[in-house]
Amino acid sequence: MGTLRILSGMRPTGQLHLGHYTGALESWVQQQNLLTEDGSKVYETCFLIADYHNLTTSLETGEIYRNTLDMLIDWLAAGIDPEKSPVFRQSQIKEHTELFLLFAMLITSSRLERNPTLKEQVRDLNMESLTYGHLGYPVLQAADILLYKGEVVPVGEDQIPHVEITREIARKFNNHYTHPVIGEVFPEPAPIITKFSRLVGLDGKAKMSKSLGNTILLADGPEDVLRKMRTAVTDTAKIRKNDPGHPEACTVFSYHGKFAPPDQLLCIEAGCREGSLGCVDCKKMCAAYISQELEPLIEKRRDYESHIDLVKNILLEGEAKAKVIARNTMQEVRTAMRLGETT
Ligand code: TRP
Repeated sequence: MGTLRILSGMRPTGQLHLGHYTGALESWVQQQNLLTEDGSKVYETCFLIADYHNLTTSLETGEIYRNTLDMLIDWLAAGIDPEKSPVFRQSQIKEHTELFLLFAMLITSSRLERNPTLKEQVRDLNMESLTYGHLGYPVLQAADILLYKGEVVPVGEDQIPHVEITREIARKFNNHYTHPVIGEVFPEPAPIITKFSRLVGLDGKAKMSKSLGNTILLADGPEDVLRKMRTAVTDTAKIRKNDPGHPEACTVFSYHGKFAPPDQLLCIEAGCREGSLGCVDCKKMCAAYISQELEPLIEKRRDYESHIDLVKNILLEGEAKAKVIARNTMQEVRTAMRLGETT
C-alpha cells in the first residue's frame, strides 16, 4: 500500500487549548511521524490554516495574522515538523476559491441546511441569520480537502458531518466528470476521530472552547494550570473531602483519563469512590500531570516566539509547496470538466 495523504486544518483562533490538543493536534503529530515496519512513511501530511472559514463567524480581520502565528507556534511546539508537513493559509492559495465555486454546483442548499454542526453553531452563538458563505462552510472545507486529494482527515467529532459532505461532493464530481488520463480525479476521504475529541471544559458543561472561557491553554505554565484547575467543576455530591465521589460525573476525572499515567488511573478512581482522595488533592495531581505534558511545548514555544521571522518563513515555504499541488489538481479538474478548451 502506498502513502496515504492526510489533510486537516484549524481555524486561526489564536493560542490553542487542551481541547485542540487532544482533539486533533496530538494525533496530527503522531500521524506525521508514523512509519511502517520497513521505515517508510504511512502518511503524507498537510495542515491548513482556515482563515477564510474564520469569516463565517467574525468579520473582524485585524488580529488574523497575529492569531495565525500564535496558532502556528502551538502547532510547531507540539511537534508539527514543517519539513514533513507543509503548513499554509487557505487565503494564500487561490485555487481554494475556484474549487469552492465549482463544488457549490454539486450540492443542494437543503442538504447544507441539514448540517448538524451548523445547527449547533447557530444555537451556541445565538445567530439570528446565516450568511450564504456560512451555509457553504462544508463546501469550502471539501475544497480544502480535495484540492490536496486528502484521503484521510483526522478531526474532532463535530467535523464528521463535513467530511461526509466532502465524500458526497467527491462522488458526485467523479460520477459526472472523468479525466481522460487519470480517470477519477478525487478520492473519497475517510475521517478519523480520537477518543478525546471532545474534551469537556472546566465548567463541566460544554466542550472546551475559547468563547466559553473554560479552557486550559497549551501555553499555560504550571501556576496557571493549577489556578484554572481549582475552578474546575467536580462531582456535586462530593462536598467534604471524605465523602464518596462519582468519578464518572467529574470533569477532573475526565482529564485524568487522558493525562494520568494508566497505572495511576485505577488508584485515583478508587480513592475518589472510597472518599480517601479529596478533590483538592485530586486537582493538584491532575494539574501536575497536565503541566508535565505541556512542559516541553512551553519551552519550544518560547524558542519560536523569540524567532518569529523563522515562523513567518515556515508559513511562506508551506504556501509555496501547497500552491504546486493545488495548481496541479485544478488543472486536472479543468481538463475533466472541459473548461477552457480552445479546440
Ligand atoms: N472546520 C474545521 C474546524 O473548525 C477546520 C477546517 C477547515 C478543516 N478546513 C478543513 C478541517 C479541512 C479538516 C480539513 O475545525
